[in-house]
Amino acid sequence: MTTLKEVQKNPTLLEFIRQAEKALKTLDYTDHGLRHSKLVAARARTLAAEMGLPKREQELASIAGFCHDLGNFLSRTYHNYLGALIFQQVFANDFSPKELAIIMQAIANHDRDEMKFVSRVSAVLVLADKSHVERSRVTIRDMVKIREDIHNKVNYAVKSSRLGINKRKKFITLSLRVDTKFLAPMEYFEIFTERMVFCRKAAKYLGYKFGLVINNFKLL
Ligand SMILES: [Fe+2]
Ligand SMILES: [Fe+2]
Repeated sequence: MTTLKEVQKNPTLLEFIRQAEKALKTLDYTDHGLRHSKLVAARARTLAAEMGLPKREQELASIAGFCHDLGNFLSRTYHNYLGALIFQQVFANDFSPKELAIIMQAIANHDRDEMKFVSRVSAVLVLADKSHVERSRVTIRDMVKIREDIHNKVNYAVKSSRLGINKRKKFITLSLRVDTKFLAPMEYFEIFTERMVFCRKAAKYLGYKFGLVINNFKLL
């Protein structure tokens, strides 16, 4: 059975992720390249493992995590759908039809309004991806430009983010350290309310509650 390690050696996939990174950099977007892909893959695997999901589901969650943003090199708006279809084209012979469907659905689902969870892999991916908010994702260095764009501003303000899970209490918590001199917590919610709703839905699908803690202050 194909593993994340094997997927990560595919030259076509790696080139597409590199091109996605390049395409979004030119738009001054936050990092959606290799670093983000690796972090989401690792976070998805850890979350799936800590929840006690079967080994193969852990592997599929990490593969979906690594590949979820590859469609950005063709279009930002439709990157989730395009990414799902490209994944199938590149890896058609490497996964069973069922596993292909699980990964494709997870990738297509990770960034859309009518988010519907059809597998635990898709829910784990949303939590791993939407929780990755932090300063190191900001690719531009010009502080004036950073302040002008709310996505860059919010990411820049977050010094660290950590996703914790309490299996016994069935609780998933996103803890952020935010530089409040740079950003008022209300500004964080301007764009991240939607993300937090996605996380809550994903957690609920997995049988968990979702909480948000900013600077040790419980907000959700
Ligand atoms: Fe995405
Ligand atoms: Fe992403």
